[in-house]
Amino acid sequence: MTTVITGSASGIGAAVRRRMEGEDRILGVDLRDAEVTADLASPEGRAAAITDIREQAGPRIDRLVLCAGLGPHVDPPSRVAAVNYFGVVDLLDGLFDLLRAGTEAAVVVMCSNSAQMLPLDDDPFVQALLAHDEAEAARIIDASNPAHAYMGSKHAVGRAVRRRAGEWGRAGVRLNAVAPGPVETPLLAGGREDPRIGNAIRDLSVPLGRTGRPEEIATLVTFLLGSDASWIHGAVYYIDGGNDAEIRPDKF
Ligand code: NAI
Repeated sequence: MTTVITGSASGIGAAVRRRMEGEDRILGVDLRDAEVTADLASPEGRAAAITDIREQAGPRIDRLVLCAGLGPHVDPPSRVAAVNYFGVVDLLDGLFDLLRAGTEAAVVVMCSNSAQMLPLDDDPFVQALLAHDEAEAARIIDASNPAHAYMGSKHAVGRAVRRRAGEWGRAGVRLNAVAPGPVETPLLAGGREDPRIGNAIRDLSVPLGRTGRPEEIATLVTFLLGSDASWIHGAVYYIDGGNDAEIRPDKF
């Protein structure tokens, strides 16, 4: 099995890597400490990553996990959009043919439980992302705020996964998303330290009484990649200690 994991050097991606190491041949993709060193924030960086992955993977990929991401504290907001959205869809589409050739191929994308916490259905930033208009998305979001960049990019990622479910399912490639709540990683720590959003993160109410651990997210990711999840496709799984249920009890 050949598994590609973006964001493999830290946090959730590193935890997924630890769970799969030994079982699979792993190609990590990250800014550092990875088999594929790449900056997913630019179209050129993403194209170079895809070329390098293709060279190292050979004719097929069996599993793909897209974890690379930036928190809402990162400036400028357009960089958050670039990594969190375009760093997902460009790799999905750029590796689709190799996944089609894989064995029981499965993909998991990192969304967020914040993806539905703003009214984003018709949001112009989200529409620009879904239209793959990177310049327009950057123009809108750099005049907005960091929470909008983060939640909007994650909202669009969830929709990008669901929009591909028809074609990808018929091609034999399972594609799902995981939507974590607050998980103890450098990304969450960065958000907590940001004066603009730190209080909102500290005040998050989690019914199970604590934040998550990267290993807990990795457990769900590896389950979704494996044969026990053979009929799960096009789904977005919340894993957040009940945080979303408490905020939006009448929606699911
Ligand atoms: P992290 O900061 O520990 O790891 C993110 C990884 O992405 C790092 O290794 C980083 O180098 C890599 N990365 C960032 N920008 C990149 C770029 N331009 N090119 C290549 N790699 C890049 O963060 P964490 O928490 O493990 O996040 C993983 C994913 O989970 C992200 O997509 C994040 O949005 C999502 N998530 C995290 C939550 C949390 O509370 N930690 C909650 C919900 C979603």
